[in-house]
Amino acid sequence: MTALPFKEYVKVEGWEFVEPEEYLKAHSETLTPEFWLEVAQDLDWFVKPTRALEGDPPFYKWFTDGKLNMSYLTLDRHVKKGRKNKVALYWLGEDGTERVLTYYEYYRLVNRLAYAFQNKWGLKKGDRVAIYMPMIPELPAVMLALARLGVIFSVVFSGFSANALADRIKDSGARYLITADGYYRRGKKILLEENVRKATEMAPVESILVFERLKGVWNFREGDVSGEDFIRDVPLNTYVEPIPVESEHTLFILYTSGTTGKPKGIVHDTGGYAVLLHATLNWVFDAREDDVFWCAADVGWITGHSYIVFGPFMEGLTSVMYEGVPNWPDPGIWWSVVERYGVTIFYTSPTAIRLLMRYPDEYVEKYDLSTLRVLHSVGEPINPEAWWWYFEKVGKRRCPVGSTWWMTETGGVMISHTPGWKLVPLKPGTNGYPIPGVKAAVVKPDGSEASPGERGYLVLTRPWPGMLMTVWGDDERYIKTYWEKFPGRFYTGDYAIMDEDGYIWVLGRADEVMNVAGHRLGTYEIESAIVEHEAVSEAAVVGVPDEVKGEVPVAFVVLKEGYEPSEGLKKEIKDTVREILSPIAVPKEVVFVSKLPKTRSGKIMRRLLRAVFLGKPLGDVTTLEDEASVEEVKKAYEHLKGELG
Ligand code: PRX
Repeated sequence: MTALPFKEYVKVEGWEFVEPEEYLKAHSETLTPEFWLEVAQDLDWFVKPTRALEGDPPFYKWFTDGKLNMSYLTLDRHVKKGRKNKVALYWLGEDGTERVLTYYEYYRLVNRLAYAFQNKWGLKKGDRVAIYMPMIPELPAVMLALARLGVIFSVVFSGFSANALADRIKDSGARYLITADGYYRRGKKILLEENVRKATEMAPVESILVFERLKGVWNFREGDVSGEDFIRDVPLNTYVEPIPVESEHTLFILYTSGTTGKPKGIVHDTGGYAVLLHATLNWVFDAREDDVFWCAADVGWITGHSYIVFGPFMEGLTSVMYEGVPNWPDPGIWWSVVERYGVTIFYTSPTAIRLLMRYPDEYVEKYDLSTLRVLHSVGEPINPEAWWWYFEKVGKRRCPVGSTWWMTETGGVMISHTPGWKLVPLKPGTNGYPIPGVKAAVVKPDGSEASPGERGYLVLTRPWPGMLMTVWGDDERYIKTYWEKFPGRFYTGDYAIMDEDGYIWVLGRADEVMNVAGHRLGTYEIESAIVEHEAVSEAAVVGVPDEVKGEVPVAFVVLKEGYEPSEGLKKEIKDTVREILSPIAVPKEVVFVSKLPKTRSGKIMRRLLRAVFLGKPLGDVTTLEDEASVEEVKKAYEHLKGELG
């Protein structure tokens, strides 16, 4: 690893900076549940909470006596208080179609949808619905309409396969599915019907609601209803009362990859989550009334939930949603969107930045980016080169650039620079300090704190509003995954370093989870998909560094007897992963081996596979693998090297 710029301080003209000591002193006064209770008072609750934190750890409950409704907070409130005709969403399709929706238009659409959900589907508080929709304006509307009724939704990323969708429908117990006919990607129409049909064969639902983005491509069958038909007879001025739910009522379930087994259904509450979003929109993004907020993620991930839909809408901002990828029809398209809508706050992934910085600067220089005010990145570590490009070419050295660390489980940003609270000097690539009310530590395997500059595990040492409540249907797994390794502290699964100033630098996953272009994938999930191929006896997947995507999977495959390695077989194996999991999970390489290196207890030595693949020396074998002797590790390494040439 190249040295991280621990001592490189960057300040931005026009912004007031504070010294770390000042930040840390003020921060130390925020570390109580009561601090959060005070922040919570900013929200428009139906019943204001008077209690901060309760529960039976690690099952924490925030603001238990408060009642609220997310649909009310994001819509009714604005319609009542002067933002009725303000633009809530600028939506731009890849084909140039544009839709602009005001808060009032969303409010009406959401009420009509809620009415139909209630009266046509009989949905009520606590029911579950699965959503498999691409980036279209109806997606936030559906989420808010369900939230209005206290119905729990689970959004499944539209790039996921039929199997992945079926698993999530089954696990969440969803009775209905809401989808769309498709979307545009790189000029092509991507249809969703085939995946939906396959998924609902495996996991039947009572009805499927289909929004027609492409029109005329969905073959409607019995049980299907189009978005238009669903609300055709519901009057424009329909009003459905937003149901006051308890603060700890589940707003949504979002599935994410773990180290073993099926993806986990991360359960988020309503009150704590809303408070965290309100707080982070202000502290991290410095949100102001006139901001045009573009989080260039997909709503199917937590980033999109929190910072395309709920966060910006709660604050009454104008949010931007763009259907397409960063480099089609050309690598200036995103910057043209910034210019077109006068985006002021921009939030994207290091992968997108690394992709765009490979093209000539003229693509970014061609557009007027002078409206930009605050820039952040998310999803993976941002390397200093990408940070500098983002800072200089996009932000023109005028905007603070941060790398916000958080995860599906945390609900919102946890560690970041805070231009809207107190801004400490930037450092290219760091995540910065925990936000107010959040405390983090970097610890050694024995739980004691690592020294400055020493790599350790990142933990969060206090509960926070917005934290996951549990894993859907599996309290045991919740405890085991997050609270057992370091009792009393939340284990993130990440490696990190704290530098001498106390800034945190998250380095990547410490477990067998990969981060491909900012998307979390379990090695186990990919391996399970590969062994579905009839020729495969065993598979091991490791993540290897990639210049653009950060990390990509490489698969080591042992074939069953009677099968011979071939290019054709490699392709079939890749196709299997694409089919079963998702195109983003497809291994960059498939490497055939005669056996996988394992420890005595049968654990695959992944680090060894990675070393051989990358042509790296074995290095210090004593720390390389647990539970295997130095001799065994060396032997396995030599064997593999021999096999791979
Ligand atoms: O490894 C960390 C990485 O992304 C993981 C969480 O993935 P997910 O739940 O999909 O949520 C991504 C978006 C919030 C973390 O465990 N990660 C996220 N943000 C950063 C990061 N790594 C380094 N720097 C970041 N800013």
